[in-house]
Amino acid sequence: MSRFWNEKTRNIEPYVAGEQPKPGQKIIKLNTNENPYPASPKVREVLDSIEIGKLARYPDTSSTIVRESLAKYLGVTPDQVFCGNGSDEVLAFAFQTFFESGEGAAPLLVPDISYSFYPVYAELYNIPLKKIPLKEDFRIDVSAFCTEKGGGVAFANPNAPTSLLLDLADVEEILKANPDHVVLVDEAYAAFAGQTARTLLPKYKNLLVTGTLSKSHSLAGVRLGFAVGDAELIEGLCRIRDSFNSYPVDCIAQPVAATAIDEREWVEENVRKICATRDRIAEELRNRGWKVPESKTNFLFASPVKMSAESVYTKLRGKGILVRYFNKPRISEYLRITIGTDEEMDALLKAVDEIAEGKDA
Ligand SMILES: Cc1ncc(COP(=O)(O)O)c(C=O)c1O
Repeated sequence: MSRFWNEKTRNIEPYVAGEQPKPGQKIIKLNTNENPYPASPKVREVLDSIEIGKLARYPDTSSTIVRESLAKYLGVTPDQVFCGNGSDEVLAFAFQTFFESGEGAAPLLVPDISYSFYPVYAELYNIPLKKIPLKEDFRIDVSAFCTEKGGGVAFANPNAPTSLLLDLADVEEILKANPDHVVLVDEAYAAFAGQTARTLLPKYKNLLVTGTLSKSHSLAGVRLGFAVGDAELIEGLCRIRDSFNSYPVDCIAQPVAATAIDEREWVEENVRKICATRDRIAEELRNRGWKVPESKTNFLFASPVKMSAESVYTKLRGKGILVRYFNKPRISEYLRITIGTDEEMDALLKAVDEIAEGKDA
């Protein structure tokens, strides 16, 4: 704490990212929902071909080549696509663009358990927030999102950390019930669900869908996120971007991302592999008595048997395996476990069995 900090800095509770290993530390990292496989070999070729002279110039502010690749991939026009430095940044821009701030503003409606950056951005930008409790089974309460009076809606679908998917028919109900406000559907994990709200775009001008190359395209380190929506929504995002940082996507990220997006078959195969591992490990944990809801993401939301989630988290950490534990109401008996390679997940199962047998070290 410094006496030079302003009130916002003193009071804000920042987002806490999953633990990053120290350089040289050998661990199995299943705590930040990254993809365990390297990106397509074509990405390697692009990296090798980047001319050093290019780095001397500012990048294309509007990420044209990425937006063109995304538009083709997503079946929209380039003016319906916005790119940013990870979907975290795109979400931050969207909060500033579409949701009203200040005392007395209609609150943004979000699930009480969802991506923990939403309340942080709301606080940072003075957007009043109304948290709608998930139902007992951790599903989003669609009727509450339809009846509560708000100034916008934001939720992740599939949701995190619960891993559960809301049907498109339910998403559509929420869109219909909030015609005068933006409904932001954060689809960071949609590739693993085989469903996207983007199919609703021709019908709903108030729909903004965000996505990322961090999970399905194995590019978390490149930081490329995007939003898709009506061209006028995208124009609004550009206004906010250009009031903050005109060059959010750097000149290495742009060709890398454009190439990775064009590698559709590779991405499909990558996603298929992860989903197969996910379903196998979910079954293995259920066979051991764990509670594991049906995941539509690249992670499991899993509650251990006979031991607290916190103690399993700590013991796994002691064995060099990082998973995510949230010490928060309602979910404190669950772990969020990213799907790694088959070998990594087998090591996780072995560690889980050893912990159950009392072999902690
Ligand atoms: C629900 C959700 N949205 C957005 C993000 C941000 O992804 P990125 O900034 O890497 O695009 C994450 C990251 O884990 C997430 O879980």
